[in-house]
Amino acid sequence: MPRQLFVTTALPYANAGFHIGHIMEYTQADIWVRYQRMAGSQVHFVCADDAHGAPIMIAAEKAGKTPQDFVAGIAAGRKQYLDGFHISFDNWHSTDGPENHELSKAVYLALRHNELITTKTIEQFFDPEKSMFLPDRFIKGECPKCGAKDQYGDSCEVCGAVYAPTELKNPYSVLSGATPVLKSSEHYFFRLSDPRCVDFLTQWTQEPGRLQPEVLNKIREWFEPDEQGNNRLSDWDISRDAPYFGIEIPDAPGKYFYVWLDAPIGYLASLKNYFGKMGKDFDAFMADESVEQIHFIGKDITYFHTLFWPAMLHFSGRKTPNHVFVHGFMTVNGGEKMSKSRGTGLDPLKYLSLGLNAEWLRYYIAAKLNAKVEDIDFNPEDFAARVNSDLVGKYINIASRAAGFLAKRFDGRLSADLGVEGSALLETLRAHSGTIAELYEEREFGKALREVMSLADKVNEFVDQHKPWELAKQEGMDAALHDVCSVCIEAFRLLTIYLKPVLPALASQVEAFLKVVPLQWGDAAKALGAHQIGAYQHLMQRVDTAKVEQLFEAPPAPKVAPGGEDIAPEIKIDDFTKVDLRIAKIVKAEHVEGSDKLLRLTLDVGEGRLRNVFSGIKSAYKPEDLEGKLTVLVANLAPRKMKFGVSEGMVLAASHADEKAHPGIFVLEPFAGAQPGMRVR
Ligand code: MSP
Ligand code: ZN
Repeated sequence: MPRQLFVTTALPYANAGFHIGHIMEYTQADIWVRYQRMAGSQVHFVCADDAHGAPIMIAAEKAGKTPQDFVAGIAAGRKQYLDGFHISFDNWHSTDGPENHELSKAVYLALRHNELITTKTIEQFFDPEKSMFLPDRFIKGECPKCGAKDQYGDSCEVCGAVYAPTELKNPYSVLSGATPVLKSSEHYFFRLSDPRCVDFLTQWTQEPGRLQPEVLNKIREWFEPDEQGNNRLSDWDISRDAPYFGIEIPDAPGKYFYVWLDAPIGYLASLKNYFGKMGKDFDAFMADESVEQIHFIGKDITYFHTLFWPAMLHFSGRKTPNHVFVHGFMTVNGGEKMSKSRGTGLDPLKYLSLGLNAEWLRYYIAAKLNAKVEDIDFNPEDFAARVNSDLVGKYINIASRAAGFLAKRFDGRLSADLGVEGSALLETLRAHSGTIAELYEEREFGKALREVMSLADKVNEFVDQHKPWELAKQEGMDAALHDVCSVCIEAFRLLTIYLKPVLPALASQVEAFLKVVPLQWGDAAKALGAHQIGAYQHLMQRVDTAKVEQLFEAPPAPKVAPGGEDIAPEIKIDDFTKVDLRIAKIVKAEHVEGSDKLLRLTLDVGEGRLRNVFSGIKSAYKPEDLEGKLTVLVANLAPRKMKFGVSEGMVLAASHADEKAHPGIFVLEPFAGAQPGMRVR
């Protein structure tokens, strides 16, 4: 029976595109998954957008969209990254999908049934203008220790103090600027402090092979009693009050699951959604003891995955993860903070749009990765040097040195008898199949690639010793030339198998060139024999360092918003048609006694009566220049009582947002032929 693997990566927040850290995580998991598939395992590799939570709700509001539309827009942008970097997820879903609503409620109800849910009334900051409770990061104020201004609700960036938001001096809501007030509300808690949870987690986390040793070390202290001898695991607040973008808690109107409750359940939801499409039985699969459930995550979300998540699963009667594989962070240029505006980050889409090869990055990331929780750095010079010397100089070179002679002299047909030395070399390559497989299995990708490159070195030494370019010039050396070149191609095929988890697109080009079916791990034990290969086309370019430099150039200064202000949030046609715009004839225009801004306009809108409208255009027009002209009037604006009389509408005029720096007011005038009273639509 093949291994059955259910593999996930962390579900990214649906508030932005991917950064290099996401691509690093997906690449790590994808290499492992591709290796497993080549080795015959049955893998289901899924991910989803993490759609819920206050930050996304607020971002959507800012963008003038519903949260659903907002996250749908983000989801639509995922494919270009995933295809671009050859990430082979079987399914991409959303935590706002129906499967997740259903599963989250089911998990919660099971926990409640097991008496692991409790309620407590807590006091929290509330924004009276927005009518909502404020998450810590939406409260700012002065640090209670050092007095620094504009510090977040949980810690001070100036002196490093850690405190509760209620300790801030002069707190204000980041959303409205209002002073938050303390308000109490009933919250739901998962009773992680229950002895059953503590016992279960102590045992679960320590199960040999489940967690990396350094991860276990970090979380071990959570199971030891604190100085007072008390349990360190405290109950986990899993509810948030409306308004909240999330899943409603059963039997608790106005209460929603905190995003971190339903987010990991999204792993199951994505698999369920996928199985639904495939007509496979999700429940049966998840009940199968032999299925291995594996999560790839970054170090910052370890606690969620090694405490809350296994406890939630176990006490709702479900299978728990077999492994949580934690990786470190990717930094760029020596750990500088990633910032797009300063041009120091590595924007994955810019990387692709510059025509940089995605597999160069996959190779580079793989070469730096190991099974530990270590950060890795992207360094442009190191990147170019590594890819050029390993991939192009060592690996591709082997095929390009042999393919031409085979095509020209032997009709692309390989020799079946490869000579003693050649056969011995190939045996050495084949003998490494097991070691390299193990290194992939253990996520020691850097070590695996070093093994492969040292094998490539051996092949190149063989070529240097036998000098096919000289054999080709000598009389009677055809057989020798044929053997050497055939050894090279067979070696190249073996190396391609070993590199395929990292370089899937290149491997498929090689398969076409060699005229072989998709290579599997087991194919390393076989030989091509007297096989006819196709025509060689160059397989990979050297890294273009000029383009890599471009990647880190700061983007051109952001475009100044047109007219000095951003385009307003999107509206629907219905919003527009609410505004009744009409052609109006300026019958009379006159100064207004006591006003240095206004002109009084008498307008004919074809209604059989005239309208009186005040307009702030005195600085730009003389009354006599306006009389007799046509313009556009907002005709259904509520009449406004002003100091000088009632204004019955508003005349349209253009101006720059910064009128001081860009003076000028320009009244709108229709093209010739328009008649008073016509609607503008
Ligand atoms: N939405 C949560 C995860 C929910 S999982 C049920 C989240 N999202 S995230 O978008 O902030 O991060 C997604 C993944 O990217 C996490 O595993 C995180 O550790 C990883 N990374 C974020 N920045 C990273 C780097 N700079 N380098 C490598 N991985 C990093 O957390
Ligand atoms: Zn401070």
